[in-house]
Amino acid sequence: MKKLMAANWKMYKTWDEAKSTAEELVKLTAAKLPDDREVLVFPSFTALRGVAQALAWQAGFSAGGQDYYIEEEGAFTGEISPKMLKDAGAAYGLTGHSERRHILGEDDEYIGQKTAYGLASGLKVVLCVGEKIEDRKNDMVEDVLERQIRMGLKNVPTDIAPDRLSIAYEPVWAIGTGEVAGPEEISAAHGFVRKILFSIFGDNANEMRILYGGSVKPDNCAEIIALDNVDGVLVGGASLEGESFSKIVLA
Ligand code: 13P
Repeated sequence: MKKLMAANWKMYKTWDEAKSTAEELVKLTAAKLPDDREVLVFPSFTALRGVAQALAWQAGFSAGGQDYYIEEEGAFTGEISPKMLKDAGAAYGLTGHSERRHILGEDDEYIGQKTAYGLASGLKVVLCVGEKIEDRKNDMVEDVLERQIRMGLKNVPTDIAPDRLSIAYEPVWAIGTGEVAGPEEISAAHGFVRKILFSIFGDNANEMRILYGGSVKPDNCAEIIALDNVDGVLVGGASLEGESFSKIVLA
């Protein structure tokens, strides 16, 4: 299984900025990318086509949309569909990110609809899950993860090709804080995620990637991706500069 090294650029970068960062990333990593790595960038919608074009001719590189609505088209002002993302060059979609859960108010039910709809529309999907600090303090990590995963995957066919679905474990308290989860915390959470996936998908769960996200940096990435059940990373802040993200990709 190839490790998936993913960048989430959130609401940063204009078209020009995004395209030049994507080009720099290709320049710094394409020739050296190990066979067991894939690179994925989630830019803003307005920069998606430019980034997808910059990555298009490189084996192992792809682009994705940070969000989408659950219809192909229609009177849904401000929304964007998987069909439009694919048209702009996206192979992936992202669902359940903590900023959409906790700032934009998306609930488990809607995230589940979105995950299934994106897959049915031909996108590969990365579903994000993760506990808040109070959940951890109250010993509720497994309850939160199990609920988010089961609701998030409720309508996903159990025979889905395993390379089309990934889970990103992103503890909310580690996102953008500089505070990274420790190796035991990451191993425990990822082992638990694998167990839940196994109970839903059987042996195919072993081929689904589980990414870690939350303050991944060039100097902690190698240690994190070496842990059991860590099949890649989802990086925010440290992915915004080509040089910094290229160190993570090649870590
Ligand atoms: P940071 O890497 O900035 O902590 O963000 C993580 C994240 O939210 C990726 O989706």
